[in-house]
Amino acid sequence: MATVFILNGPNLNLLGVRDPAVYGRDTLGDIEERCLRRAAALKLEIDFRQTNHEGQLVDWIQEARESADAIILNAGAFTHTSLAVLDALSAADLPVIEVHLSNIFRRERFRHHSYVSLAAAGVICGLGAQGYELALEAVARLLAGRTGETSQ
Ligand code: DQA
Repeated sequence: MATVFILNGPNLNLLGVRDPAVYGRDTLGDIEERCLRRAAALKLEIDFRQTNHEGQLVDWIQEARESADAIILNAGAFTHTSLAVLDALSAADLPVIEVHLSNIFRRERFRHHSYVSLAAAGVICGLGAQGYELALEAVARLLAGRTGETSQ
């Protein structure tokens, strides 16, 4: 079974209490549960993690290079700042789907640029927690395409 790392960056541990008008009321735990259900239906294994630390995120992306078949990444604010995350993603050479709960293009200008996008196969933003489930579907299709299997 293919393994997908679902990695979450800084402040996403505060979901549910942080700016619910922007990020919604789902907690990160709720999102993980939704992902577990969706992944089971798609026959994917997931490893769902969150960190507030850039170096930890880089370490996990490097780990994915060895242990995962794809990465779903909400890098939080590191999206807009981190060359280190971009370099790690490029080195990982895996399908990457970038996710944001909010529509970063309807927000401040500094959120419009994403380093992560330079390494991403696709970007999903503005659809709240549902974006993670859609990202899992995209990964399932990308991996099925890679192995020649029929997608779900
Ligand atoms: C975010 C958008 C980022 O701009 C912000 O820094 C976050 C969350 C989102 O999911 O909408 O922390 O990635």
